[in-house]
Amino acid sequence: MPDQTQNITLTCGGPANGGTFVARHEGRVVFVRGAAPEETVSARLLDTPAQRAKASFWRAQVVSVLEPSQDRVASIWPEAGEKGVGGADYAHIALPAQRRIKTEVVQDLFRRAKISTYLAEDIQVEPAPGDHSGLGWRTRVQFAQQDGLIGMRGWRSHEVFPVGENPLATAQVNALRVPEARLPQAVTGIEVAAPACGSRPAIVLRGGESARLSELTNGLKIPAAWEDASVIALARDGQRTLQGEDHVSERVGNNTFSVHAAGFWQVHRQAPELLTASVMSALQPVAGEHVWDLFCGSGLFSVPLARALGESGRLLAVEGSTRAVASARRALADYPQARALAGDCLRTLRQQGGEAPDRVLLDPPRAGAGKELMRLLLERVKRRIVYVSCDAATLVRDLKQAENAGWHITDVRALDVFPHTHHVETVSVLER
Ligand SMILES: C[S@@+](CC[C@H](N)C(=O)[O-])C[C@H]1O[C@@H](n2cnc3c(N)ncnc32)[C@H](O)[C@@H]1O
Repeated sequence: MPDQTQNITLTCGGPANGGTFVARHEGRVVFVRGAAPEETVSARLLDTPAQRAKASFWRAQVVSVLEPSQDRVASIWPEAGEKGVGGADYAHIALPAQRRIKTEVVQDLFRRAKISTYLAEDIQVEPAPGDHSGLGWRTRVQFAQQDGLIGMRGWRSHEVFPVGENPLATAQVNALRVPEARLPQAVTGIEVAAPACGSRPAIVLRGGESARLSELTNGLKIPAAWEDASVIALARDGQRTLQGEDHVSERVGNNTFSVHAAGFWQVHRQAPELLTASVMSALQPVAGEHVWDLFCGSGLFSVPLARALGESGRLLAVEGSTRAVASARRALADYPQARALAGDCLRTLRQQGGEAPDRVLLDPPRAGAGKELMRLLLERVKRRIVYVSCDAATLVRDLKQAENAGWHITDVRALDVFPHTHHVETVSVLER
């Protein structure tokens, strides 16, 4: 059996979920990172011989390309890749091919899950309107500091690699020149949130689990490039706003959201607008109805939903982060028909009891809704469920459960709001 210092030659076939490509070595499946479709590469095995002896598949990383794929291009971000940062696993693949690959992956997941009420072939990954380069879209970026070096973490690793400008980030993020900052050693994480509408960006400084606020801030000189940004320190003993405010101001259409600097917000600069339009046309809320908005974050979808339901309708929004719920409540202040509750969705809904909703929108994290929450929804929702997902593998698991309970999938939209990465956002419609 080859060890980790030996390279093996692999010929890759199609894509697998998670950004890799499938090859075979002596009959065994190998998931190859850094490859492109149908190419022959020299690759380094990523697991130890002991791990491989027990594994049903192996994992490998491309070291050099022997026969390149037609889809391979010069990487848009050479600092990402084999010995570099994670978060851009398709940077070396032409953008139209990335979308074809993502389409193939999502369709394949639907087929493998044996989804029967929606044709997998009808799913096509669409770009954000006008996005021809897949660059300059990230409004949120996380940096890390290790031994005085500010950079970004490697793929599934804690190692910090140096970075310059991030081609996936917006100009406003890059203008903060985070890798050039000089920060106290106790700062291990630097999170940037730069609203697409151009309002004041925010930088959150975090330490390790035991770090205190004083360690993050003692001796800190805020860099000149951060002059117009808010700067916040977050540690186990609290939060301190060192400059500006602890939130950023996001704008979507006519709505303004004040989102905590460390809170969740859709990352692609066009995603809030695009997803709001997609969700509203998928859910088709009717004035006077009762709707739930689950995993509502800072209320991105809750506000247009509350407006569509009108004063005779009712919106219940639920969110686990207390900071995000506070933002959602502020955004919903003018809508007496809306209520935002803080708590785990399943537990909160179980405690609520009461009247069944006509429609439900849910937008869970990657783990998906899960069996128990899906069961509750499939039993209680009267008409329609719209499921926004950033992980197609957990999505198909939950959709299959819905089909088994007699629901039909009537639409699936897949959006490429994470270009140059393997991620896809989907909006699926379920009807009773
Ligand atoms: C993908 S985000 C969607 C947020 C919002 N819909 C948006 O688009 O801005 C998922 C949200 O679920 C929240 N969350 C995660 N697990 C949760 C749970 N078990 N119960 C309630 N909320 C949860 C997270 O805090 C996060 O805000």
